[in-house]
Amino acid sequence: MHILSANDLSLNDINKIFLIADQISSGKSFKVKKFLTLFFEKPSTRTRLSFEVAIARLGGSSSYIDSSTTHMSRGESIEDTSKILGLYSDFIAARLYNHKDIKTMAEYSSAQVINSLTDLEHPTQALADVYTMKKYKKLKSGKVAFIGDIAANTANSLMLVASKFGMKISLIGPKKYNPNSGIIKIAEENNKDFNINITDSIKEGVKDADFIYTDTFVSMGQEVEAENRKKLFAPYQLNSSVLKIAPSAKVMHCLPAHRGEEITSDILDGKQSIVWEQARNKLIINEALLVFISSNKK
Ligand code: CP
Ligand code: NVA
Repeated sequence: MHILSANDLSLNDINKIFLIADQISSGKSFKVKKFLTLFFEKPSTRTRLSFEVAIARLGGSSSYIDSSTTHMSRGESIEDTSKILGLYSDFIAARLYNHKDIKTMAEYSSAQVINSLTDLEHPTQALADVYTMKKYKKLKSGKVAFIGDIAANTANSLMLVASKFGMKISLIGPKKYNPNSGIIKIAEENNKDFNINITDSIKEGVKDADFIYTDTFVSMGQEVEAENRKKLFAPYQLNSSVLKIAPSAKVMHCLPAHRGEEITSDILDGKQSIVWEQARNKLIINEALLVFISSNKK
């Protein structure tokens, strides 16, 4: 199977991945002696290294390819490139600008493709996010408030995973800045009781939240809009006045953080922050995901 969207995984699949992750955390070791190619068009610190470490721990190996060093930079097509990557690899973890390219990659490659971030989704992040939340709250009765860029890839994948568990979701962002309606429709189809509140009021959106999540105001690929986006989202910074509304909420961020923009340092480093645990769980979840998909071939 390919993981192009968080929705490619059923609730049952996700629970299996979480169970494998728990086993890994308790010291169980798995073997997946396969080759993983990381094909990245955008920078990465966490996703890249966590996949590299994960496959090494499993007894497999990997190679990181910055797409700008390949013949794609000289015009070789995504289709031909994908065919070649598939000839040499069992898995491809790809970080691409356009979501449609990851679909093309899966179509043309014989390897199993894992979306490692596109403009639309960041499925492996959402798995690590919800796995982290599970330690703190029974998911079915949990509420996550996403504040800031509510149309971000991280918000999209989070909605898809959280909806499967029946979590309440609140999206808090500027008036007239809309979340992705296609993703919301899928989340609604995932769960007939899907409970989403979209608001420009921080007070209304954050109230009763168990988790408050934010991401950068300027995602990779949006650099030309940086100044406008920073102005637009500035009132939605995650800071101490937001936490006063939900005093026991845990603070989450996929990282990298832009301290002083979407989140203040005191909150990122504060008592309620679980961001470092969230980052650590990317390693456990990516390892568990590789174990899971190696026994779920196409
Ligand atoms: N959260 C995340 O995907 O981080 P990187 O961009 O460093 O991989
Ligand atoms: N929304 C961010 C996530 C980074 C991990 C981006 O796409 O740049």
